[in-house]
This record gives sequence, C-alpha cells and structure tokens, in this order.
Amino acid sequence: MSMTLTIIKPDAVAAGNTGNILAKLQESGFKIRGLKMMRLTEAQAKAFYEVHKERPFYGELVSFMTSGPVVPAALELDGDDAVPTLREVMGATNSKEAAEGTVRALYGTDIEQNAIHGSDSDENAAIELAFFFSRSELLGAQ
Ligand code: RTP
Ligand code: MG
Repeated sequence: MSMTLTIIKPDAVAAGNTGNILAKLQESGFKIRGLKMMRLTEAQAKAFYEVHKERPFYGELVSFMTSGPVVPAALELDGDDAVPTLREVMGATNSKEAAEGTVRALYGTDIEQNAIHGSDSDENAAIELAFFFSRSELLGAQ
C-alpha cells in the first residue's frame, strides 16, 4: 500500500462539497486513514506552501488557504501509486482545463480556487502527512 495527503480547500468546504469529494476519493479506491477540519493559520499556510514562496501567486495562495476551514485527509491506496492516482482524480491545476469528471472540473473554479490539494511525490507525501497527522491519528484504515 501507499499513502498521500489531500486537502479539501476553503472554496470546496465553503460550498458544501466536502462530502461529495470524500465520496469520490473513496470511489476511486482510497481509504481514509486520517481526517480533520481546521482553519490554517497564516504561519501554517506559509510553511505548507513554502516551496512556492518565490512565485508571484504565493501571497494570494496563503490568503486563499487561510480564508476558511480546510479538510486535510490521509489517504491510503493498494499498490504503489497513491500519489499519481490522486493527481489524476484531482485533474489539472487550472480547474477550467481539468479533464471531465475530475474533482477540479466538478468542484473547482479557476487556477487558484481549485477545490483540492494533493501531494506531488512520495517524499512530499511523507512530509505533508506528518505536517497534519501524528502517528496515533493515522492508526486504523476505514
Ligand atoms: P496543489 O499543490 O494545491 O495540489 O496544486 P498543484 O500541485 O496542482 O499546483 P501548484 O503549482 O503546486 O500550485 C499550488 C496552488 O497554488 C494556487 N495557484 N495559483 N494564481 C495562480 O497562477 C496560481 N497558480 C497556482 C492553486 O491553488 C494551486 O493548486
Ligand atoms: Mg502542488
């Protein structure tokens, strides 16, 4: 099995799409091993997206990610492909270009308000899982 980290972003939580997105992830084969709703502080959002700190959209991204509650989830998939499988289910970064049926096509709005985050490598998945969940919070797949 393999694991990855998703975050249902503030736009999707505010629109009431948390349940639909979790259902779609489960239908895609993921098991939810950790789940919480929280409001990121500015420091947390800056740290989480630190890799983008030189990008022109960093300030807006931090504002967006702290604009309301988010729902991080630890996802497990049979086999080695949790990270690429989640990226496929999410769709392209720009919601307007995301393939039909993907989470971003269904629930995103544009390149920033795109409903969902997914880790982009196994290495970053491990870092991001540890950012949101302690070991004891990851026990027991559902
Ligand atoms: P994520 O990290 O959230 O899963 O998204 P991603 O890999 O598809 O895209 P990434 O390049 O890592 O960008 C992170 C998030 O920043 C926002 N963004 N805004 N205004 C812009 O041009 C712009 N570009 C990216 C999006 O919320 C994107 O998901
Ligand atoms: Mg990314």
